[in-house]
Amino acid sequence: MKSTWSGGGADVGVVYQVYPRSFQDSTGDGEGDLRGILARLDHVRDLGADALWTSPINVSPFADGGYDVADYTAVDPRFGTMADLDALIAGTHERGMKLLLDLVPCHTSIEHPWFRDHPERYIWSPTDGPANNWLASFGGGAWSPDPGGRGWYLHSFYPQQPDLDWHNPAVASAFAQVLGFWRERGVDGFRLDAIDRLRKDRELRDEPPAAHPPRLPEQPELDRLEHTRSRDQPDVGAALAALRAGAGDDAFLVGEAYVPSDRLGRYLEHLDRCFCFELLHADWRPGPLREALSRAPERAAWVLSNHDHPRLPNRVGAANARAAALLLLTLPGTAVVYQGDELGMADGPGRTPPAPPDDRFGRDPYRHPMAWDTARNGSFTTGDPWLAVVRPSGGSVAEQERDPGSMLHLYRDLIALRRTLGPGLEVLDSRENVLLVRRGEHLVALNVGDEPEPAPAAGELLRHTHGPARVGDTLAPGEGFIARA
Ligand code: GLC
Repeated sequence: MKSTWSGGGADVGVVYQVYPRSFQDSTGDGEGDLRGILARLDHVRDLGADALWTSPINVSPFADGGYDVADYTAVDPRFGTMADLDALIAGTHERGMKLLLDLVPCHTSIEHPWFRDHPERYIWSPTDGPANNWLASFGGGAWSPDPGGRGWYLHSFYPQQPDLDWHNPAVASAFAQVLGFWRERGVDGFRLDAIDRLRKDRELRDEPPAAHPPRLPEQPELDRLEHTRSRDQPDVGAALAALRAGAGDDAFLVGEAYVPSDRLGRYLEHLDRCFCFELLHADWRPGPLREALSRAPERAAWVLSNHDHPRLPNRVGAANARAAALLLLTLPGTAVVYQGDELGMADGPGRTPPAPPDDRFGRDPYRHPMAWDTARNGSFTTGDPWLAVVRPSGGSVAEQERDPGSMLHLYRDLIALRRTLGPGLEVLDSRENVLLVRRGEHLVALNVGDEPEPAPAAGELLRHTHGPARVGDTLAPGEGFIARA
């Protein structure tokens, strides 16, 4: 079942991110699964997505929502079977879309058999204690004692996620095989998790105290160090080259490197796209947005939300959610839409007390299930959902389908329009609170301030954030349009 797609990686226009636990349940156990995704594929196709990326579906004890993998070439039973995955691959291809899996190469689950049988594939402290001052991204030190008494191991994230040693060639060849395995089954590409952590300083030297605030936000505790030894090493390309070789030249590879845009070059040498986190974190004000856009690399994968960050209405404000969609979907290259953004979904409450949070790092609110219609639990599940189904203020999918003024229709219209936009991205001078972007023959304008602004002069209106045919002399706060230049 080899993929027939040979268009070259870079031509994926819109990627739709599915958080598989929260998309659609087909068994009644309250959690989404692969059969559920298959049943809802028409929604993704009708949106106009070119590819579907699903967060990890591999066997996992779920200490980090599946980003702790215990078997890279098997499907976790909570999501279904390999036959279900084959059906999903076929279903996406039948609808003209590609399927991208999430590959987690930085660390395994502590329950992966490698950790027991191949300790040499991991990073161990030379002393009986932490080797240095490195910190884990979710808090605390990055070293923990092995429960089996073999010493202290490194973990960039939770202690249940021991870091692999990418200086060991056995690690690279094991992953090349994993990638080849999935390509054989028809998978078209991968989202590569946490790749700025693949290589670390060989000598495990201490990180120096921070001289400046971080350019991408971190846990406050992490701000005090400059992460020059534990991340983003000059030789990371060697690891990425091995991943590329395993995936093949025609696989679409999009990397998650949590580094500022001007440091993405060494990753892009081997990948088709890298997420541009500077735009995701930019304050919704003209200055920071202009700066993030002008610094972005040419092959950015634009992303404004995902399963790790507060949802758009909570970050940019509900009043700006439509303008955010307009900006995201008119930028050139690849745009990534996180499930539920097309409904204007806001953060949910997380787990209902006294149930403890599922994610210890507090990311449950960004991971609530989809509301498909007005039936019980939005038809996400016939059982008890693992997180409550929260109806978006603009309504469920079925309600928004019927409302031409809905967020869902805005997303569909913009994605359709996006296909007609040529290359080029130029941030133009404009009134202070108006972001004005030239996209070839087109002009995108949005009011990112708090006061009405005169609408910039433009040609034929193609889409307004608040109605297909709305024209006027002013742009209210949160309004925008795309027009012919
Ligand atoms: C990435 C994932 C995040 C996960 C982390 C560790 O940042 O997006 O969800 O917790 O890597 O794998």
